[in-house]
Amino acid sequence: MDIRFVTAGGGDVVAVMATEGGELLEAGKALDAATNGRISKAAKATNFKGGAGQVVDVLAPEGVDFARVLVIGLGKPDAADGMAVERWAGHAVKRTLTSGAEKLVLQPDALPAVTKAEAGAHAAMGARLATYRFDTYRTKLKPDQKPTLTAVEISMDGPAAARARAEQDEAIVEGVFFARDLVSEPPNVLYPQSFAERLRDLETLGVEVDVLDTAQMEKLGMGALLGVAQGSARPGFLVAMRWNGSSQKKAKPLALVGKGVTFDTGGISIKPPGGMDEMKGDMGGAAAVAGAMKAIALRKAKANVVGIVALVENMPGSNAQRPGDIVTTMSGQTIEVLNTDAEGRLILADAVWYAQDKYDPAAVIDLATLTGAVIVALGHENAGLFSNDEDLAQAIIAAGTAEGEAVWRLPLSAAYDKLIDTPNADMKNIAGKPVAGSIVGAQFVKRFVKDGTPWAHLDIAGTAWKPGPYEDPLSPAWATGYGVRLLNRLIASRFED
Ligand code: BES
Ligand code: MN
Ligand code: ZN
Repeated sequence: MDIRFVTAGGGDVVAVMATEGGELLEAGKALDAATNGRISKAAKATNFKGGAGQVVDVLAPEGVDFARVLVIGLGKPDAADGMAVERWAGHAVKRTLTSGAEKLVLQPDALPAVTKAEAGAHAAMGARLATYRFDTYRTKLKPDQKPTLTAVEISMDGPAAARARAEQDEAIVEGVFFARDLVSEPPNVLYPQSFAERLRDLETLGVEVDVLDTAQMEKLGMGALLGVAQGSARPGFLVAMRWNGSSQKKAKPLALVGKGVTFDTGGISIKPPGGMDEMKGDMGGAAAVAGAMKAIALRKAKANVVGIVALVENMPGSNAQRPGDIVTTMSGQTIEVLNTDAEGRLILADAVWYAQDKYDPAAVIDLATLTGAVIVALGHENAGLFSNDEDLAQAIIAAGTAEGEAVWRLPLSAAYDKLIDTPNADMKNIAGKPVAGSIVGAQFVKRFVKDGTPWAHLDIAGTAWKPGPYEDPLSPAWATGYGVRLLNRLIASRFED
């Protein structure tokens, strides 16, 4: 999509803002005057209240060149933030993407809490995110199913500041789309090796990419990761992506660690068939890490960050691990595997340890589609956050709120930790009873975090993808790319020179 900033836009469709109460903002008032009051008349006729996402669709009004005017609500003016502007622009794109229109003009206004330049930049961000589609395997799209929109003009006076910001933001959109594509790809196409190959492509952006194969992981003693991988004909890999953008080349990096189960059958503890196809998205944590690495490399972030992803396929093969197996991790700790479907924590055990052992990071953040229980607790609206560090937790909450990727903190404590003790090994990979599933998963990962390392765990099982219909205009497909924006902002606000 071609996004341009102009002072006077012309095209097939124009979108303007209104706030709760049905009040048109400046650009809308100008259009209303030019059309001799037809816009406000149409709004009145349809009970328009300016609620977030509410739309008045005015066709072929006299007095302007536009064939269609969209008045789109933002909700309460005082509560309207940058994200509200993004959704506003997203709704406009959603309405026009396949409508036959080729050019959309957005006329953003300043809001009580958003300057005009910010509104312009957010409009560009929202418009871009709303264009996402995953059509790779749809060979028979009819003409009316294909996008017709080729350009969005953001029309405002003095567009320079907004344009400059939007150019920076393009890196973030690229990162989000990279993550969405990875999550969307079918599991016969995206498996550990092909995933690793796609990450190699980041080398062209200046990211150092290091791929560890089975033999290298065996040498390091990654028995938990390899135990999961061994059931599949497709070997596992661990990929480390390093971006060293800080002016202090020796400064400790932030380590991001992602769960990359390219398909989770459950292994021998096999899952029931209903909805099992969704487990192609069980690499959403790895996708978020990869997307964040791409975003920070594209915008040349002045930060040292290493992204580590553990890539495996969890299959019930003749060599699959069995319930009852005891594996030895790189840390030396042993795990009794009582349920092969609790595989994410097993691969994270070695990946989180490797991150600390090899990179001596300033902090570790892992992202994983770890537990179905987090969906029971928080639905698809918030990711579960767990952390041993107050400052890091608060910074993650702030970054998620600002970027529309909400997180909700859940507790950790010794009483939960005890649930994974076993007489047979240092720990078991499930609790004895089905309680507090997401917390137990987090406690397990925490056993592989060294004392003194600030750490956070994001359980994104409910947010990496969402069930249809896909009503979020900024996330118009199954895969959301959740985590890329949060991580990028966290890096910008806390880990950058
Ligand atoms: N990948 C799943 C978790 C999941 C479930 C992600 C639904 C997204 C949607 C994970 O590997 C898993 O199977 N977890 C088990 C853990 C249990 C065996 C302790 C679960 O949540 O049932
Ligand atoms: Mn599983
Ligand atoms: Zn899984």
